[in-house]
Amino acid sequence: MSIKSVMVIGAGQMGSGIAQVFAQSGFQVMLNDMNEEALDKGMQSIEKLLSRNVDKGRIEEEEKTATLSRLTPSLNLDDAESADLVIEAIVENMEVKTKVFSRLDKITPHHTILASNTSSLPITEIAAATERPEKVIGMHFMNPVPVMKLVEIIRGLQTSDETYETIQRVAGELQKTAVEVEDFPGFVSNRILMPMINEAIYTLYEGVASKEDIDSVMKLGMNHPMGPLTLADFIGLDTCLYIMEVLHDGFGDSKYRPCPLLRKYVKAGWLGKKSGRGFYVYE
Ligand code: NAI
Repeated sequence: MSIKSVMVIGAGQMGSGIAQVFAQSGFQVMLNDMNEEALDKGMQSIEKLLSRNVDKGRIEEEEKTATLSRLTPSLNLDDAESADLVIEAIVENMEVKTKVFSRLDKITPHHTILASNTSSLPITEIAAATERPEKVIGMHFMNPVPVMKLVEIIRGLQTSDETYETIQRVAGELQKTAVEVEDFPGFVSNRILMPMINEAIYTLYEGVASKEDIDSVMKLGMNHPMGPLTLADFIGLDTCLYIMEVLHDGFGDSKYRPCPLLRKYVKAGWLGKKSGRGFYVYE
């Protein structure tokens, strides 16, 4: 199946990055958000990143202009009626996501593939909110999307081979490396990454070391490019908490219990870089 027109839903940090790489790879892209301010911010962040790439000599001015000409902002989900592929990148919450998928199932043509960028929620359950579970799939990009090479492709119980092969081909057209993952809580990436981040938060909570020193141990001692607390701030502490809850509920194992300090920060609205404060303070 050929994919020409794509809608990305959610113009937050992931959605704007996904829209950018699709537009840079020649697809026609609509970037949708229900919040006008978030949509403006997402469009501006794409323009800023492209301009920075031009300044640094990574791309030509023409590529920036061409990329932006392929991008259309959208505040109306009904615009999805012209999309061959929809990628949802809204809040990590099953109820909200299934509502959107059920609406998309009614709006989009029969051939349209409905993908979710969910970090951890079961694709099979999202697919069950539609009448086309064979065309529902997980396409999990990494943050920041324009930089990170990996895409986890998650097959729901009923995802068809044709849908899988189409998404695998699209990932290749975006110059990403795809891995195939079965539908289990946290998939592979977050099943391994999030318990490490959660343990770093416990280490801080128990007063074992300062936040800076915890990050230094993992950076200088394990050669991670970024410490786990900084990484948590970049991912978003609300997203980290959702993912830990999905692992905890999904496996029923207390080793996945979210750290109380993580819950406290999220309750305070300290969501990390996107809200200006998490473990660290951002301007
Ligand atoms: P974000 O909070 O930066 O952005 C979410 C955006 O969705 C907001 O602009 C919000 O206005 C919009 N939105 C919410 N409900 C909507 C609806 N019904 N219709 C249209 N727009 C709606 O979130 P972020 O970090 O971009 O995460 C989005 C998804 O990507 C989540 O499922 C998350 O688990 C996943 N993800 C996040 C990663 C990260 O590092 N933050 C990495 C990989 C996946």
